[in-house]
Amino acid sequence: MTVSRAEFRDAMARLGAAVNIVTSAGPGGRAGVTASAVCSVTDDPPTLLVCLNRTSSGNPVFKANGVICVNTLAAGQRPISEAFSGVGGLTGEARFTHGNWSTMATGAPVLEDAAVSFDCRIAEVLEKGTHSVFFAEILAIRQGLPGRALIWYGRGYHPVGHEVVA
Ligand SMILES: Cc1cc2nc3c(=O)[nH]c(=O)nc-3n(C[C@H](O)[C@H](O)[C@H](O)COP(=O)(O)O)c2cc1C
Repeated sequence: MTVSRAEFRDAMARLGAAVNIVTSAGPGGRAGVTASAVCSVTDDPPTLLVCLNRTSSGNPVFKANGVICVNTLAAGQRPISEAFSGVGGLTGEARFTHGNWSTMATGAPVLEDAAVSFDCRIAEVLEKGTHSVFFAEILAIRQGLPGRALIWYGRGYHPVGHEVVA
């Protein structure tokens, strides 16, 4: 029994996931891509992984720089997700006109008002099929204010959680 690519994609649409902007900066330049294929690997050393298509503009830049920052979006940041996934035709540096950006330990762009940001050095890259799997060791974390998160589910955006009133 074999599973087609279409069947796999349809099935994966049933898995809700956080929406992240994965960024990088360094000798290879600045780049950022929207990615939902992000997950925890181990807390010792604190490590997450990101799966990125080999054809994505960010892929060679991440490898050249050796650092990434995973910025997990809050519910109101859908326009930033769209910009960094190529909606509107924005590429490269022009994507950073959406959102306000700073840096932490590695110099990779950190998104102001993200739900949480993980600043990482790339420890290992594994090539699998169409994608590269980046194992990223976390050097610094910045937690945003609590509030509603942005989830990608059923090929669409959904806010989850409760608004926190100060
Ligand atoms: C919500 C959402 C999640 C995405 N997740 C991933 C992902 O995990 N990995 C990936 O390679 N592309 C993902 N993409 C597609 C990329 O954002 C992007 O469109 C694609 O890599 C082409 O990038 P480029 O225009 O920078 O070359 C996602 C797009 C959206 C809208």
